[in-house]
Amino acid sequence: MINYCEMKEEIEKVIAELNELKCKTQKDVEDARVRLLGKKGEITQLFDEFRNVAPDMKKEFGKALNDLKKEAMAKIEEMKTNAESTKSGASKNFDLTMPGVPYELGSRHPVSIVRQEIVDIFRKFGYDVAEGPEIEDDYHVFGALNFPPNHPARDMQDTFFVSAGHEDPILLRTHTSCVQVRCMETMPLPIRVICPGRVFRNEAISARAHCIFHQCEGLYIDEHVTFADLRQAILLFVHEMFGPDTQIRMRPSYFPFTEPSSEVDVSCNICHGKGCNICKGTGWLEILGCGMVDPNVLEASGIDSKKYSGFAFGMGLERIAMLKWQVNDLRHYFENDMRFLKEFDSATEV
Ligand code: PHE
Repeated sequence: MINYCEMKEEIEKVIAELNELKCKTQKDVEDARVRLLGKKGEITQLFDEFRNVAPDMKKEFGKALNDLKKEAMAKIEEMKTNAESTKSGASKNFDLTMPGVPYELGSRHPVSIVRQEIVDIFRKFGYDVAEGPEIEDDYHVFGALNFPPNHPARDMQDTFFVSAGHEDPILLRTHTSCVQVRCMETMPLPIRVICPGRVFRNEAISARAHCIFHQCEGLYIDEHVTFADLRQAILLFVHEMFGPDTQIRMRPSYFPFTEPSSEVDVSCNICHGKGCNICKGTGWLEILGCGMVDPNVLEASGIDSKKYSGFAFGMGLERIAMLKWQVNDLRHYFENDMRFLKEFDSATEV
């Protein structure tokens, strides 16, 4: 049993404490709340002791304790708001003339930088820019480009099928030549267009091959377009891209959609033809494939191959960027490693 005086004394002690209570921060308020009203708090303990109070005193102390608890709760609530307003009041004292924290600017991806350079060069030559779907039908990627069904030429460009098993399967495009097919189908002649974009191939990923990469292909169709025009267009492009002293070399090649076809090499801009480990001692670097559009391809898109002729070319953007910045592993382009991407910070301003 707790006697009258002891209980009264204890209640008064807590009242005095409550009256004195001052809190600056939210943490102080929380500490005070725990000290008074927490599970083992002073007021909670008084409620426990209330059980031992003699029955005739229960009424008086019951009321006193309830009042105390209410008062404590109200005071804590009040201090909470005050501490909060002090906090936001402090923020008003910030020096607004101080310089802000700068946003970190990102840099453009090397493939985007190269694409923009190529687009700018061909725009100057009067080419339009066209884009098309990355998920394409078999007809636009292969059929219209003179790849017969099951022809071994398809092995050069194996891809990922979205839906197979019917006449015109849906697949991921392996080159942007399909955009040129769409241009031939819809644009009025003459056509002068370049098609930058992402392409996909079923390749094992290594330093030199990836299942995703980017291309920029070009197409020019008009009357009397010859192989000499093709060579000159490529030479002009190469001079803009790699410098006016760069030479080109054309080697015979094969593509189902061009005849004759050729690969183009540029003179190595590191060793200037002497031979180094970038050009593997040859003095030349391969940059693109090209050729005269096969008459079958023109006819498939409804263009009169007796009247019109044209040339096409296509290059890998990662490859051009690799030569430009001597990147030695294709995988760097897709790994989003900030240490690699930051290397191109200043190139962004080009
Ligand atoms: N489409 C070819 C490829 O992806 C490149 C190319 C385009 C070659 C145009 C010749 C003419 O390999």
